[in-house]
Amino acid sequence: MSYALAKIAEEKVFRDPVHGYVHVKDQVIVDLIETKEFQRLRRIKQLGTTSTTFHGAEHSRFNHSLGVYELTRRIIDEIFAGRSEWDESERLLSLCAGLLHDLGHGPYSHSFEKVFDLDHEEFTRKIILGSTEVNAVLKKVEVDFPEKVASVIEKTYKNPLVISLISSQIDADRMDYLLRDAHYTGVSYGKFDIERILRVIRPTKKGMVVKASGMHVVEDYIMSRYQMYRQIYFHPVSNSAEVLLTKIFQRVKVLFETGYQFKLSPAHFESIFKKKVSVDDYIKLDESIVQYYFQLWLKEEDTILSDLCERFLNRHLFKSVEFHDSDEDFKKLERLTTLFHKVGIDPDYYLTVHTSSNIGYESHALGTQQITLLLKNGEYADLSDHSTIVSAINGKKSVYKYLYYPKDKIISLTEEQPYKKEIVELLGLK
Ligand code: NI
Repeated sequence: MSYALAKIAEEKVFRDPVHGYVHVKDQVIVDLIETKEFQRLRRIKQLGTTSTTFHGAEHSRFNHSLGVYELTRRIIDEIFAGRSEWDESERLLSLCAGLLHDLGHGPYSHSFEKVFDLDHEEFTRKIILGSTEVNAVLKKVEVDFPEKVASVIEKTYKNPLVISLISSQIDADRMDYLLRDAHYTGVSYGKFDIERILRVIRPTKKGMVVKASGMHVVEDYIMSRYQMYRQIYFHPVSNSAEVLLTKIFQRVKVLFETGYQFKLSPAHFESIFKKKVSVDDYIKLDESIVQYYFQLWLKEEDTILSDLCERFLNRHLFKSVEFHDSDEDFKKLERLTTLFHKVGIDPDYYLTVHTSSNIGYESHALGTQQITLLLKNGEYADLSDHSTIVSAINGKKSVYKYLYYPKDKIISLTEEQPYKKEIVELLGLK
């Protein structure tokens, strides 16, 4: 039997708190899970700094990736199989794409990518196509199989139905992370009836659609997503830890570029600083390595770097105040920047506006792949044209802006410091 179709003698199961079990029968999937590039995802948290607020949120990208694989598998094996719109020869391709879609994520992706100008999607592609264990497994299926898997993840593959399984507004990726993040943070609003959704999904040549009778469960899913963004992903305290990370990476980059002598060379970061990062260097980076460096940098003579690391490791976070795009707030920020300089707190590292934004739902008219309902008469319609709830948030962008600052540093300024009072007032402290 060909490697693509090879099954292991006895099904492997992974106990999973969200799906009960993750079922694996395909030899290719077993082999991919065992590669070092996939195992690395155990050392990268799915939610980065969210555990500073919701302490349960320690789950990894490994857990999530297995979950996306499992949902993709269930959609294919339980719903699509045997239907004329589905081509069974695309099963393994879809499973591999689901499993590997987040392979290129780095440690604390958001801040890391922002400061070092990296892109996890680009690294997902490089790991799949480069000289890696994952590539060796995929190539055994077919010479051009790695390229096919990468193209599904990049949404350029020829069959939109396969793409929609892992990238659309209702796909295995989103459904898994919402359920998983809700489970591990311990909140209830991310939950929705996944079993019901799986029963109302249908394959079409253009992508997955939802039977009209399933509209309400999909509304529930959209609202869960909306709430999770507001309550979890954009939580101002988690974002405060995110800001610290960004500032640590920013500082260390500046120090490196200006020839600062580190007590111990930041060897793992060097190729990144020099913008010559290879796949090999990249996969050596995970959150345990990053935290190891933070421990080392506590002892650095550069007080900004050591202070920021101390804050991150011991959760001495910046405080925040809501920031609006108004003349008043911009003036306030400008004045605070001047005052911070005057009192010796470097505003480049200790005063920053952080923005998060998300769109609740996007209909076809807004240019993305909408959620399509399959009506009883066989016609198709956009979910937002039939659902009052979804149409209410269609195209609505939620934007959250906060100004972050170290309250403790300001409070500890002496009373003789002439600018203290003004800073305290501008930030509304007391
Ligand atoms: Ni994902």
